[in-house]
Amino acid sequence: MPEALPPRRLSVAPMLDWTDTHYRYMARQITRHTWLYSEMINAGAIIYGDADRFLAFNDGEQPLALQLGGSDPHDLAKASAIASGYGYNEINLNCGCPSPRVQKGAFGACLMNEVSLVADCVNAMQDAAQDIPVTVKHRIGVDRQTEYESVRDFVGTLSEKTACRTFIVHARNAWLDGLSPKENREIPPLKYEYIYQLKRDFPTLEIIINGGITTNEQIAEHLQYVDGVMIGREAYHNPMVMRDWDRLFYGDSGRPIEYEELVERLFQYSRLKIKAGNGVILPHIVRHALGLMHGLNKARIWRRMLSDANLLKNNDGSLILEAWQEVKNANSRTTEIL
Ligand SMILES: Cc1cc2nc3c(=O)[nH]c(=O)nc-3n(C[C@H](O)[C@H](O)[C@H](O)COP(=O)(O)O)c2cc1C
Repeated sequence: MPEALPPRRLSVAPMLDWTDTHYRYMARQITRHTWLYSEMINAGAIIYGDADRFLAFNDGEQPLALQLGGSDPHDLAKASAIASGYGYNEINLNCGCPSPRVQKGAFGACLMNEVSLVADCVNAMQDAAQDIPVTVKHRIGVDRQTEYESVRDFVGTLSEKTACRTFIVHARNAWLDGLSPKENREIPPLKYEYIYQLKRDFPTLEIIINGGITTNEQIAEHLQYVDGVMIGREAYHNPMVMRDWDRLFYGDSGRPIEYEELVERLFQYSRLKIKAGNGVILPHIVRHALGLMHGLNKARIWRRMLSDANLLKNNDGSLILEAWQEVKNANSRTTEIL
């Protein structure tokens, strides 16, 4: 029997250019149960491009969701059908990205204004994905739509018209006019209460909260009101924050990974990937590990060595071990955390 999937109590957010397969490999060494999400991939890239390049992932990355971008039900269905052969555990539709590039293609956050079209997309994706659940990630509103009712009606309509039962909600509006994507992750105010209210209004749906959450204490607090918490930037800039998640939020009594062990696995992984070819070079892998030593002495040396073009050009994973040795020496008196 296949192993049962853990609940989506914790997940790492889809992040373009960040949550690629190399980042996810590292995250998966740190947490066994947390759900991981791919970067957003345009449906068209899968249909007309090299699908394998966008969809292939390492053994053991699951539970893993693929996030698709698009607004054409036919294309989204086709991309979902192709992706369904790869072993993803969920396919997610992006209805929250405010980037102007995405708006031009009329998808991302502006889809929140077109709930019937979103329902058509989700239904087409679900038909094509067969038994892989299709979920939606969205905001609490777009532009000056500030009242709770807009997000309530969006979720209510989709839950009536589609089989989607999981809604991941970034607790901010997307302001499509005048703010950059980065500003759109910082300036519109966070309204966690809206997400708690969604769970009260739709108790049978799985409601996941996202936006501005960084500590285990905050996660524990949110879990009193919703089914799951999705973390983005903190899990990227400080990956070791995930180290206690299995124990704290999944009741796993296993030992959390040690830095030394993780560094050794990253070293082995980089050797394997570089040797296999496919255009993978050391910077592709280590750029996601720059925040790994966050909070330790000499974390800056680690970051500096792993982003030094001169050192990276040898394309030799031993650099990871050398940089680690610097950190290890500088922290030898605090060995309990290593
Ligand atoms: C670099 C970057 C890229 C992102 N790309 C995506 C994306 O591809 N799809 C998506 O739904 N959200 C994307 N987001 C938004 C995150 O998924 C998340 O909703 C947002 O960062 C808020 O969560 P946080 O405060 O925990 O980071 C991105 C965020 C960042 C920082």
